[in-house]
Amino acid sequence: MTTLCNEKAPILVNEEIGCNIWLMTVEAPAIAGGARPGQFVHVRVPGMDDHILRRPLGIYAADAEAGTVDMMYQVLGFGTERMTALPLGGSVELIGPIGRGWQPPAGCSRALLVAGGVGSAPLHPLACELAAAGVEVTAVLGAGTADALVARERFCAALDCEPACSTDDGTYGRAGFCTPLVEEALAAAAAEGRPFDYVACCGPEPLMRLVAAMAAEAGVFCEVSLERRMACGVGACLSCVVDTVDGKRRACVDGPVFPATEVVW
Ligand SMILES: Cc1cc2nc3c(=O)[nH]c(=O)nc-3n(C[C@H](O)[C@H](O)[C@H](O)COP(=O)(O)OP(=O)(O)OC[C@H]3O[C@@H](n4cnc5c(N)ncnc54)[C@H](O)[C@@H]3O)c2cc1C
Ligand code: FES
Repeated sequence: MTTLCNEKAPILVNEEIGCNIWLMTVEAPAIAGGARPGQFVHVRVPGMDDHILRRPLGIYAADAEAGTVDMMYQVLGFGTERMTALPLGGSVELIGPIGRGWQPPAGCSRALLVAGGVGSAPLHPLACELAAAGVEVTAVLGAGTADALVARERFCAALDCEPACSTDDGTYGRAGFCTPLVEEALAAAAAEGRPFDYVACCGPEPLMRLVAAMAAEAGVFCEVSLERRMACGVGACLSCVVDTVDGKRRACVDGPVFPATEVVW
């Protein structure tokens, strides 16, 4: 059971790392110490008096020793735009770590992680954890353009090998969407007689739906991390519901990670 913390977190790093994508590192020792891969933080951005809602962001890295949390955020609207202007030494208020994270099957020995865009954020700590546990991990990263493949180096470092990459515009890796790379990885592992026993995917919903279908076809257990607009972030308001085979569930506390076969796509 995760203990929820509310921390005023001093900003240590806030810089643009790619095409409209920023990295923020904050000091939040209680959250860093309790976070599990796939969980998120709910961020109150100062200076947003007209916008009281927090913004949910996946935990890109949590360093329990240093007491720091990294978030990778794409600038989309008022809140994330406002975040880019926050100075070092300023602070944000975080609630977290929130939600059901990734739950690889017991005895998992070979895993395929698929990230579209900033969907790489919650998959990065999973890559680190699986690699440290001796699981053989293949990563597929897709982005619009080379500058948006911002997590590539961190995945290289975590896995000690180059992830398979694609860009929509062909500026890095395979040109086009990343789904052919996923298909090829599933087929190659099956042909070797050592199929994956776990697929984890986060990115745009059409990508997750397709990857879920490919994993189902290959008979591999798959989890996806769903994005919903969130108000409270702690299970009280029902603004984030997801249709599942078991009825409506809350993305914030019952997810954001769900077994793909439970989601009504
Ligand atoms: C569990 C969870 C984890 C997330 N992790 C990350 C992450 O690691 N990095 C990242 O860049 N983004 C992440 N998001 C999405 C992020 O929360 C939104 O992009 C952000 O809240 C937008 O705030 P804003 O004020 O800039 O935009 P707004 O002004 O509120 O909206 C601008 C645009 O963004 C869209 N948008 C707003 N909120 C969401 C949302 N929750 N999901 C999808 N679209 C949204 C709106 O429809 C609108 O088109 C995550 C969302 C969830 C639910
Ligand atoms: S955001 Fe309120 S219940 Fe999920």
